[in-house]
Amino acid sequence: MSNRVLITEPIVEDSMDVLKKHYEVTVGERGYYDDEQHLIEDIPEYDALLSVLSNPVSKQVIKAGKKLQIIANQAVGYDNVDVEAAAEAGIKVSNTPGVLTEASADGAFALLMSTARKICAAQAYLREGKFDGWDPVGFMGMELNGNTLGILGMGRIGQAVARRARGFGMNIIYHNRSKVDPDFESELGATYIDTVEELARKSDILSLNCPLTDETRHIINQEMLEMMPDHALLINTARGLVVDEEALAQALHDHQIGGAGLDVFEEEPNVHPHLLTAPNCVLTPHIASSTYKTRKEMGILAVNSIIGILEGKEKSEIPNLIETS
Ligand code: DGY
Repeated sequence: MSNRVLITEPIVEDSMDVLKKHYEVTVGERGYYDDEQHLIEDIPEYDALLSVLSNPVSKQVIKAGKKLQIIANQAVGYDNVDVEAAAEAGIKVSNTPGVLTEASADGAFALLMSTARKICAAQAYLREGKFDGWDPVGFMGMELNGNTLGILGMGRIGQAVARRARGFGMNIIYHNRSKVDPDFESELGATYIDTVEELARKSDILSLNCPLTDETRHIINQEMLEMMPDHALLINTARGLVVDEEALAQALHDHQIGGAGLDVFEEEPNVHPHLLTAPNCVLTPHIASSTYKTRKEMGILAVNSIIGILEGKEKSEIPNLIETS
């Protein structure tokens, strides 16, 4: 009997083709496996799981996955997977790094520009029939050229955001667990900042591009927001939990900062109600990486890691396996 693979919800059709040729594949209904209990009930039947970032692949799910050999998370972030529990159970975990870098950086930059230039509010004004001619003081936004972009998290996506910002004439500063390659720093004129606090103080626009870890959870909190200049913009395309949403909503309503562009939320799909009414706050439904090309490549990468494990390939042949200590 062939191996059974659970793909928790529909992904780009073309990326599932190879898998369907070789194995018995079940594709769940969208959202069904966002419920941990549903995963616990069904996972014992499967040899491989292709999960998406809204699926809680918890210790309990992993314990129930008696036959499970691999969890291929179709995302670069894998905070929804209990990687330690998987390692203890001898189950491999993979993610989808690399292929989404450029699309995600484009997405972050689109949000950054929409927020800086008040695009959504201006569009709403026009659609509401309020446009009464060129206004010398209408919708004045922030110019990118000459302003400073702070990047928290200088991994692949942070670096791709920096490259774009450089093209727009921005000064670039960053904070990361470690300094990046000096050649890259000088190519971009990017300056390392020792602390997140200093980064917050010095950034006209602060872009969050770090993974969600115990260290980064709510790293942008009330205290940090108070340190940001009152014209500063916060752009989050990382994970919702990196920001204390309650504190951010308050800071926006109090005009303590100039605006925010948010693609990710603390409890997706819910959005804090005070963010929905906050001034100069651009909100998108976790779409930064969403282009057909990228989503297809993410699917293929996830699928290939499943095939690799089920076919008994060496770890070295599956470059997107996550290293566990
Ligand atoms: C990821 O991959 O982690 C993004 O949030 C979705 O593409």
